[in-house]
Amino acid sequence: KYMQEYDLDEECEELLTTLPSEKCWNGIHLHQYQGFWFAPEFLQAVISCQKHFQAFDTDILLVTSPKAGTTWLKALSFALINRNKYPNIHSNHPLLTKNPHELVPFWEVDLYCNKDFVPDLKTISSPRIFSTHLSYESLPKSVKDSTCKVLYLCRDPKDVFVSFWHFISNVRSKRNGTLPLEEAFECFCRGVCPFGPFWEHVLGYWKKSLESSNKVMFLKYEEMKMKPYFYLKEIAKFLECPFSQEEESKGVVDGILNLCSFDKLSNLEVNKTEKVSFNVENKYFFRLGQIGDWKNHLTTEMIEHINSITKQKLANHGLSF
Ligand code: A3P
Repeated sequence: KYMQEYDLDEECEELLTTLPSEKCWNGIHLHQYQGFWFAPEFLQAVISCQKHFQAFDTDILLVTSPKAGTTWLKALSFALINRNKYPNIHSNHPLLTKNPHELVPFWEVDLYCNKDFVPDLKTISSPRIFSTHLSYESLPKSVKDSTCKVLYLCRDPKDVFVSFWHFISNVRSKRNGTLPLEEAFECFCRGVCPFGPFWEHVLGYWKKSLESSNKVMFLKYEEMKMKPYFYLKEIAKFLECPFSQEEESKGVVDGILNLCSFDKLSNLEVNKTEKVSFNVENKYFFRLGQIGDWKNHLTTEMIEHINSITKQKLANHGLSF
């Protein structure tokens, strides 16, 4: 009955009745589709995107688990790709007046969210940049068949969890009451969270990046925070728009990093007071922007538990956090 709250087409409604489902994260109904958990409105978008999205070879796709640093990656990629179009990062740069989510649309949240409307994306100038939380397995076929590039950013699951808990608490608490951290943690560790399980999500892209390093670039939030200059240059090389010596000596790399830094973006008026299209106040995309806040929220037992899951699922594949 709760499905009536959502604007779903018949195909999606029917599919939902066949999928495993759970209610958690403060009353969110999640449905497991192709191994990952989606709220109904996103499932509708995922199906539509899988059906309709046509990749161009020049496309750039930014993929993350929610709270792994999507906003930062969007800002960096946009500024990088458009550095000749907007050379002045102090005035007239779109990032000064628009939230990064407005400049790089999400498939599931922005583009394919209307069941009656398939967007015409052919007219967007190339290279087009899109973003998604979809698993590698669930990407539209044309993405896999084309030579478009995928940037995958992941983050220590402990920080992802803490960030997610804050985010959901902020955006949903008014309607649904507080979200106990222990309850959310239990769901997250079982893999039941929007677009989760986290570990399988990471693994899909990790494997693909090892197999095809010119298709998928695998990035870690922690490493980017520690060596931003190095990684921005690596991203530029991967996207086949490397910085020239001249650009480097003119400070273009530093300029982009400063523009996209947590301090700069979070203090802009647009990110303090406005809302992006999906009805979340922009300020909730900027909280601390640091490594290791989990130390302030998780008990020793929780830390051991989540670390053991990470070890069990990822260590064999050469991945750790
Ligand atoms: P915290 O909650 O730990 O502070 P997403 O963009 O995927 O929703 O992730 C949000 C997380 O990224 C939040 O983490 C947020 O503060 C952080 N973040 C946002 N902008 C950032 C930036 N420019 N640099 C580094 N981290 C940023």
